Amino acid sequence: MGDALRVALAGLGTVGGGVIRLLDANRDLITRRAGRPIEIVAVSARDRTKDRGVDLSRFEWVDDTAALASHPNADVVVELIGGSDGPALTLARTALDAGRGFVTANKAMLAHHGLELAQKAEASNAALKFEAAVAGGIPVIKGLREGAAANAIARVYGILNGTCNFILSKMEAEGRDFAEVLAEAQALGYAEADPSFDIDGVDAAHKLSILAAIAFGTQPAFGDVAIGGVRHVLAADIAQAASLGYRVRLVGVAEEGANGLFQRVHPHLVPLDHPLAHVTGSTNAVVAEGNFVGRLLFQGAGAGDGPTASAVVADLIDIARGEYGASFAMPAHELIPAPKADSGERRGRAYLRFTVQDKVGVLAEIAAAMRDAGVSIESLIQRGEAADGGVMIAIVTHEGPERSVEQALERLRGSQSLVGQPLLMHILG
Ligand SMILES: NC(=O)c1ccc[n+]([C@@H]2O[C@H](COP(=O)([O-])OP(=O)(O)OC[C@H]3O[C@@H](n4cnc5c(N)ncnc54)[C@H](OP(=O)(O)O)[C@@H]3O)[C@@H](O)[C@H]2O)c1
Repeated sequence: MGDALRVALAGLGTVGGGVIRLLDANRDLITRRAGRPIEIVAVSARDRTKDRGVDLSRFEWVDDTAALASHPNADVVVELIGGSDGPALTLARTALDAGRGFVTANKAMLAHHGLELAQKAEASNAALKFEAAVAGGIPVIKGLREGAAANAIARVYGILNGTCNFILSKMEAEGRDFAEVLAEAQALGYAEADPSFDIDGVDAAHKLSILAAIAFGTQPAFGDVAIGGVRHVLAADIAQAASLGYRVRLVGVAEEGANGLFQRVHPHLVPLDHPLAHVTGSTNAVVAEGNFVGRLLFQGAGAGDGPTASAVVADLIDIARGEYGASFAMPAHELIPAPKADSGERRGRAYLRFTVQDKVGVLAEIAAAMRDAGVSIESLIQRGEAADGGVMIAIVTHEGPERSVEQALERLRGSQSLVGQPLLMHILG
């Protein structure tokens, strides 16, 4: 049995507490699997007096979180604070510069600074691991980095935000509107007090940019992700989608095209025969399409103390075994900067919903805008009762260039016939 892997733990909230509980509960098994014990030696958070439901008296408490990076008795720093910059980034930089292993669940930091941190890890031959940063407990990074490493990946996509999926599933099951279900999700602890990162698609975009870098060997490019969220989806859209054979899901998609890397997070209509249509509640799922392995589906809990701690400790076990390679599946200098693909070049089908004034000629106006932009309509449904006194019109297009749909919407912008903004959802093909 080797010497213990000694861990300095920064952040003792949901995930940090979960890591302590997991290491306690599975201590013997983990020691046997890792070939050596994994022991927390020092911890840090903001408030020393807070009751966290775990016994912290056996660990050294360090007031200055940044000092964990150079703690004399630690081999690895685990960062579970969060935030793209601030104390998490300081800790990452100083730990990696000092040659310490670094484990984090912090997708925001990796999306913004992943390349720099991978370069630092390589320069000092230190481990940088972040399984928990994408899809919580699902070992999707390991799956892509290791299991699917022999494949060229054509596309990686999935449901990457449990809060949105919980809200959309509940809206669908209960026919309720977004704001009401969001309030309930907040009361149940499924959504943050400030839910904007989740519901506006930013959190999913952080994760998508990390997955894309691993899948395509490109530098993480969060700034190139086109981001749309779910706050404008109505219960009526979900009902309409259902009647057409679809479910509404917030899907992040990354794929390599002829003119660059395409990355988008947006509400999609997912056909009922697609596995993502059956991912409900706070579950996450990721699909990767490899040129030899075919379609892989990873599914499980995308958040929560237990699943996220499971991923953090799996990273620690890898480090304890000495089994860690390049963080993004290839050395940082091999990651290429991918140009951002022009989404207008893509072809696809779309769902468009308009709320319009109840007057003669509106339908003709919309149809003319579609025709002039070259959008071919597959089905058009007019319903009576929109919440704001208007009439709801939903359109499903035939496959065509996304640019044409954008042009049609542009033609209708400012039209006196429209009540509010139209909603566009892409149809997952
Ligand atoms: N929660 C999940 O299900 C989940 C899933 C996947 C990934 N993640 C990621 O995991 C990380 C941690 O999330 P969490 O949900 O565990 O967060 P959390 O419950 O809010 O815990 C954050 C911890 O960081 C500490 N902290 C905050 N600011 C600090 C500062 N300036 N200096 C030192 N410590 C500070 C807090 O200290 P006090 O307790 O003293 O206030 C708290 O212990 C984030 O990057 C998050 O994105 C979370």
